[in-house]
Amino acid sequence: MNRSGSRVRAAVRQGLNRVLRPAGSRIVTGQEWRGLTAGKELLVDQLVDLFEALVLPDLEPRQGRRELLHRLIGTEIPEAMYLLDSLRQSLAGPGDVCEMGVAQGATSALIANEIATTDRTLWLYDSFEGLSAPTTEDVLLDDVLGLGSMDSYAGSMAVGAELVQGRLRELDFPPARTRIVKGFIEPDLPAERLPDQVAFAYLDFDLYEPILTGLRLLHPRCRPGSVLMVDDFGFLSAGVEAAVREFLAEHGDLYSPWEAPPHAGHFCVLRRGPSISSSRGD
Ligand SMILES: C[S@@+](CC[C@H](N)C(=O)[O-])C[C@H]1O[C@@H](n2cnc3c(N)ncnc32)[C@H](O)[C@@H]1O
Repeated sequence: MNRSGSRVRAAVRQGLNRVLRPAGSRIVTGQEWRGLTAGKELLVDQLVDLFEALVLPDLEPRQGRRELLHRLIGTEIPEAMYLLDSLRQSLAGPGDVCEMGVAQGATSALIANEIATTDRTLWLYDSFEGLSAPTTEDVLLDDVLGLGSMDSYAGSMAVGAELVQGRLRELDFPPARTRIVKGFIEPDLPAERLPDQVAFAYLDFDLYEPILTGLRLLHPRCRPGSVLMVDDFGFLSAGVEAAVREFLAEHGDLYSPWEAPPHAGHFCVLRRGPSISSSRGD
């Protein structure tokens, strides 16, 4: 592009940015974008280094992990690091790995990369039509999408299953070890749509009813050392914490719950039976 062409493009961009500014948006050039993301990637790498060295020293580095951490959407790095370490610990025993609430498959890809060299099956559950309707337990705590009310979240975050399928293809994760279970989660899910045994599950449905349903479905398939990790505990909707507390009132004697401290994010980890090992330093 000649100099007058780039001047025209810069003038158009500035004009558009004046219009977009009140909405809090702006157009950036490819070069600006690369500068912005390079800064973010450096911070992610530094945080991962810190966690690997000081907080979770038993978590061995793994090929491909950093790139997948860079590509997370909405999952903070400390939470992802605890996810990886909880998954590692759970794999000391038998069982498959589940994710409930998959969306584009950013965390599915992170998990798949960790179990690629095992014989575990990855079970992925999602409506692929977005969040279900909230119930009265789902009081809005953090309006992350700026929708104004909990009811407006019904149907949000809808993406097609082809996105997660594409993410798993990029990793060469074997389709024979992948089960994608489409549809709103129901308590009467047939047994063939659930693993016989669960080592690890990441529950990220955001709402009271599906989280409680997911925990109850997985519970009979857990063995000592299995881990159920629930995202958005005390965040977005109060319903997630309510669901965990209700589940613990039913089965709390069988699980050791661990609520993430403020530096780590908004999640809780339920480990069944006596812990296999702990490298958290807490
Ligand atoms: C926050 S997103 C998951 C994000 C993903 N774990 C990640 O971090 O990349 C929540 C997902 O839960 C799904 N979902 C919500 N309620 C559901 C329900 N009742 N049954 C099945 N899927 C549901 C939505 O479709 C959405 O894709």
